[in-house]
Amino acid sequence: MTTARAQGATIWLTGLPSAGKTTIARGLAGRLRTEGHRVEVLDGDEIRRFLSAGLGFSREDRNTNVQRIGLVAEVLARNGVLTVVPVIAPYADSREAVRKRHQSSDTPYFEVHVATPVEVCSDRDVKGLYARQAAGQLTGLTGVDDPYEPPVDPDLVLETQHQTPQQSADAVYAMLAARGLV
Ligand SMILES: Nc1ncnc2c1ncn2[C@@H]1O[C@H](COP(=O)(O)OP(=O)(O)OP(=O)(O)O)[C@@H](O)[C@H]1O
Ligand SMILES: [Mg+2]
Repeated sequence: MTTARAQGATIWLTGLPSAGKTTIARGLAGRLRTEGHRVEVLDGDEIRRFLSAGLGFSREDRNTNVQRIGLVAEVLARNGVLTVVPVIAPYADSREAVRKRHQSSDTPYFEVHVATPVEVCSDRDVKGLYARQAAGQLTGLTGVDDPYEPPVDPDLVLETQHQTPQQSADAVYAMLAARGLV
C-alpha cells in the first residue's frame, strides 16, 4: 500500500521590523490551511518567549536565535510541514547556515526578502520600536542603529510598499506553486 506523502518546505521571511513579515506569514498560512496543507508559523516574538527565552539582541544571541528556529523549521519541513518563519534574521551568515542545514537533508528552503524600505517601516511602526529608538529609549534596532544585511540572492523580493498584504501573500504562494509544492 502506498501513502500520500506531503512535501514540506521552509519559507523564511526576512526583513526589518514592521516590514510585514508576520502579516504575510499569517495570510499565507491561512490560505495554505484552507487548502488542506499542514502548516506551522514560527514567529520571532513567540519563539523568543520560549525556545529562545533569555537570549538578547547581540550579534551572537541573534545568531543563536536564528539557528534554533532554523533547526525546528528544518525538522518540521523535512516531515512534510509547510513551515513559515517570519523572523528578522539580520545576518547573512546566519541565514546561510540555515539554508545549508536544509540543503544537507534535501529539504526545500526559500528565502523571501520582505524588502520594505526603512522609512516605510518606521512610518508603520507597528510596535512603536522606531519611535522608542528615536526618543532614545531603545538601542540596537535592526536597520536603524543595528545591522541588517539584505539578502544578496533571495528566492523572492516583496516590495510591500506597493502591495496589499494579500498581494504579498499571493506572491509567496505563487512561488510555492511554481515549485510544485502547493
Ligand atoms: N503588502 C503588505 N504586506 C504586509 N504588511 C503590510 C503590507 N502593506 C501594509 N502592511 C502593514 O504593515 C504592517 C506590518 O506589520 P508586521 O507586524 O507584519 O511586521 P513584521 O515584519 O512582522 O515586524 P516585526 O519584525 O516587528 O515583528 C501591518 O500593519 C500591515 O497591515
Ligand atoms: Mg512580526
